[in-house]
Amino acid sequence: MKFRRSASGLGEWLQSRTGFRGARHALLDEQLPPGTGWFFTLGSVLLALLGVQLLTGAFLTLYYAPTPDHAYDSIRFIVSTAPGRIVHGLHHYGSSFIVVAIVLHMLRVVAFGSYKPPREATWLSGLALFGLVLAFSLTGYLLPWDQRAYWATVVTINVAKLTPLAGELAAGVLRGGDSIGALTLTRWYAVHVIFLPALLILLVVLHVVLMRRHGISGPVRSRPGPMTPFYPWQAARDTAVVAVVLATMAAFAWNGAPPLEGRADPTDATYVPRPEWYFLGLFQLLKYFPGKWEVVGGMVVPGLAAAFLILLPWLDRGPERNPRKRPAVLLAVAIGMAGVVTLTTLGWRDSPRNREATAWTLREIGGRTLVQQTGCARCHSEEGLADSLEALTSSRGTEWLAGHVADPEMIAPGLREPPARRDEREVAAIVAYVHRLARQPYPAIPRETEVAGAIFARFCVGCHTIDADGGKDGPDLSAIGSKRDQDTLRRIITHPTSVNPDAEMPAFGKRLTPAELDAISRYLAARR
Ligand code: HEM
Repeated sequence: MKFRRSASGLGEWLQSRTGFRGARHALLDEQLPPGTGWFFTLGSVLLALLGVQLLTGAFLTLYYAPTPDHAYDSIRFIVSTAPGRIVHGLHHYGSSFIVVAIVLHMLRVVAFGSYKPPREATWLSGLALFGLVLAFSLTGYLLPWDQRAYWATVVTINVAKLTPLAGELAAGVLRGGDSIGALTLTRWYAVHVIFLPALLILLVVLHVVLMRRHGISGPVRSRPGPMTPFYPWQAARDTAVVAVVLATMAAFAWNGAPPLEGRADPTDATYVPRPEWYFLGLFQLLKYFPGKWEVVGGMVVPGLAAAFLILLPWLDRGPERNPRKRPAVLLAVAIGMAGVVTLTTLGWRDSPRNREATAWTLREIGGRTLVQQTGCARCHSEEGLADSLEALTSSRGTEWLAGHVADPEMIAPGLREPPARRDEREVAAIVAYVHRLARQPYPAIPRETEVAGAIFARFCVGCHTIDADGGKDGPDLSAIGSKRDQDTLRRIITHPTSVNPDAEMPAFGKRLTPAELDAISRYLAARR
């Protein structure tokens, strides 16, 4: 009794000082038309998902370091702990959940004709929110600074270059400098964690204020009966759907986001970029418009779709909200959605398998043999001055590493005699090996493949490709064994014109030992 009196006293005091009951009334007692039901829960789902995204994002900033030297390692550190893995997972899957929820919310608004007067401004603010969500996704994708991040950003910036008249300007603003690097990362990070969230909060407030100003549109055919408050029934529906969505997302996030790929390597021109799944459709569209037609796929088609959505409330103005009586709009939207789904599916099928998950490349394997032949282990060993290569989690980029491999004194001048100058290709192979080793332990590989790997990495990789790694001047050798036997291959390598008088390939008979010639020809013959 005494407790109840003091609680109500506290309530009165809070009311007199803050007027909180007014806020509770404003939040919970919104009057809804009869028949407002489950379809109207999607807005709340979006609010909840955005809340989770802001919260998990805020926690990630505590550990994330936005520089090319540290970004990758900071994410690796975050996901090395269970809470970090879950928070990172929630943030990762959250973006996909938001895109799905936003599309469903839009489809609901279109199907119910809820964009019609007087709700045009609500619709436009919603479209702006959609654009913001995509901008969040694009800027966030770069932050882990892995191969996937780097190369998808190259594509994004190339698309920005298609902007009529101001293409180079747009690309320059996005890059922050001449190439994608530290300035780009700082810039995208600032936009991702400060500019976009600020804009998002403003726009969400505007969207909800506008929605409240005109009231919820309700079912397409108005039903008889009095208006009812949001609390308790609609609030209960919203809470139930939000709970199911968040629980599903938590299940996805439990084991964290998909693993990072290798550290961003701007010199790896063999990497095939892959965007986030909801950009796959657009990415696919770009492939159908190569060269000078790129602007059609990158700007014209998406621009027309955006223009259609912006103008929709004015294209379909009549009071009729029943979807069956608005076939033209519904057909246009259905065709658009079918296009998006088809392109996304084609893009999905076309996108390469995650190369990281497959076996080590021949160049990387060759890099190991070259490391053994070089004096790396003199310093990089249990008893040496530096960490052993297996324990190395260097955050150094390719450029530094290549410099160090070519001249190890770069890190500690005067430590020992300068090495003989290393061949550029050998350096690239050693760097590739060290980078891969930092992510994946070395598997058991037959000695002969290791020898072939070193030969390939030193002499062939400039012109030939194996498993998507290498040059394009000569033929791809990934399945050469299905065309040539070992003896012919050995003759081609020793003296190419002995098999094909027009061959432009140099002869390697004098540069390789008979055992090396055997090893590389046997390896190639076995590739089918
Ligand atoms: C982050 C994104 C968004 C959030 C948080 C959000 C939130 C909400 C909420 C809470 C409602 C009221 C409940 C409901 O109708 O489900 C609502 C209604 C509405 N939203 Fe959104 N929305 C977002 C994106 C969009 C988009 C992309 C569009 C369309 C382009 C849109 C257009 C509308 C319209 C027209 C209404 C009024 C619906 C009616 O009166 O029936 N919203 N939104």
